[in-house]
Amino acid sequence: MTNPSLLILPGDGIGPEVMAEVRKIIDWYGANRGLAFDVTEDLVGGCAYDKHGTPLHDDTMAKAQEVDAVLLGAVGGPKYDNLDFSVKPERGLLRLRKEMDLYANLRPAQCFDALADFSSLKKDVVAGLDIMIVRELTSGIYFGEPRGIIEEGNERVGINTQRYTESEIDRVARSAFELAMRRNKKLCSMEKANVMESGVLWREVVTEVSKDYPEVALSHMYADAGAMQLCRWPKQFDVIVTDNLFGDLLSDAAAMLTGSLGMLPSASLGAPMANGRPKALYEPVHGSAPDIAGQGKANPIACILSFAMALRYSFDHGDEATRLEQAVEKVLADGYRTADLLGEEGKQPVSTSEMGDAIVAALDASL
Ligand code: NAD
Ligand code: IPM
Ligand code: MN
Repeated sequence: MTNPSLLILPGDGIGPEVMAEVRKIIDWYGANRGLAFDVTEDLVGGCAYDKHGTPLHDDTMAKAQEVDAVLLGAVGGPKYDNLDFSVKPERGLLRLRKEMDLYANLRPAQCFDALADFSSLKKDVVAGLDIMIVRELTSGIYFGEPRGIIEEGNERVGINTQRYTESEIDRVARSAFELAMRRNKKLCSMEKANVMESGVLWREVVTEVSKDYPEVALSHMYADAGAMQLCRWPKQFDVIVTDNLFGDLLSDAAAMLTGSLGMLPSASLGAPMANGRPKALYEPVHGSAPDIAGQGKANPIACILSFAMALRYSFDHGDEATRLEQAVEKVLADGYRTADLLGEEGKQPVSTSEMGDAIVAALDASL
C-alpha cells in the first residue's frame, strides 16, 4: 500500500518557522505510529512570487489537486503590500481554495484549561470553551463580480460584490449540520438578513436544509449581534455557520477567546475525491506575522493542531489526532509558553522550536 501524500507549503514570514515544528510531528508519527506520509514541499505566496513571478505556480496548483492533503503555513508580508492585486501572496492562497473548491472552512476555537486565565476575557466566560465556526470559503464578497477600482466622474470607486447561489449556501449548511450532529446538535447561522439580500437567501436556504436535520436546534443571528454574543457568552454556541467575510472576522475574534491567534487551527474541506477523502487544505488561522518573523518567537501550536485536523478529517485517525491534541494540552499544563501566551507577565518564553520539542516529548510520553 502506498503512503498517503502530503503537500507542504510553508509560505512566508513565520510560515516556515511553524511548519518546521509540524515536520517534527510528522516524523514522529512515521517513526512511532507506523504512519508514514509521502511529503513534498513547494512554494506559495511571496516566496513563490520571488522565484516564479506568481504567488502560485501552475505546477504547484496541479500537485495540490493530486495529493491527499495540503498543509499550508502562512502567506504575505510588507515586502509584497504594493504589488498588483493579481500577484499578491494572498492570491496564491485564494486560488488554492477556489480551484480545489474548498467550500467549508472549519475553524474550531477551544480554550485549553491552562490558558483560561490568559484570555483577555474573564476566566468564567472562556473556561471549557469548545466551539466550531464553519466559514464558507469559496464565494461571497471575496470572489463576487463585478469587482475592481473604476473611474466614475472625477473620482475612483472601489467595488466588491457579495453574491451567493442557493447551492453554495446549501452545501456549506450541510457541512455545518453534519458537524453539529457529531457534536452538541446546536447550530447558529449568522448573516445580515436585515440589510442584505444575500443574507435573506442565506437564512431561507439554511432553514430549508434544517428539515433534513430535525435533531439539530437551529437558530439565526445577525452577524453583528453574533460578534457581540461571541464576546459576551461564547459558550452558548456549539457550531456557527456563516459567510466568507463574516467568518474571517468572527474567527479572528474567537481566537482571542482561546488566548492567542497562535492557537487556532483550521481545515478547509471540499467534496469527496475518488478515494472517499475530502479535498483538503489545513492551515492555521493566523497570518505570516511579519512583526515577529525570523525571531523564533512564533507559536507553532495553530499549525500543529491543523495537522491534528488532517489526521482526523483526511486520514481517519481521530485517535491519533486526539493524542496530538492531548500532547499540546499537556505542554500547556506544564507551563510551556511562547511569547504570545505570556502577555506582559515578564516571564521567559520558550522559542518556537522549544515548543515543538516539548510537544514531541509529550507524544513520546503518551506511548
Ligand atoms: P497576522 O495573523 O499575521 O498577525 C496578527 C498578530 O498576531 C501579530 O501581532 C502577530 O505577531 C500575531 N501572531 C499571529 N500568529 C502568531 C503566532 N503563530 N504566534 C505568535 N503570534 C502570532 O495578521 P496581520 O498582521 O494582519 O497580517 C500579516 C500578513 O499575513 C498579511 O500579509 C496578511 O495578508 C497575511 N495573512 C495571511 C494569512 C494566511 O496565510 N492564512 C492569514 C492572515 C493574514
Ligand atoms: C485567513 C486570511 C485570508 C482570508 C487572507 C490571507 C487571504 O485572513 O485565512 O483568515 O482573508 O481569508
Ligand atoms: Mn483572516
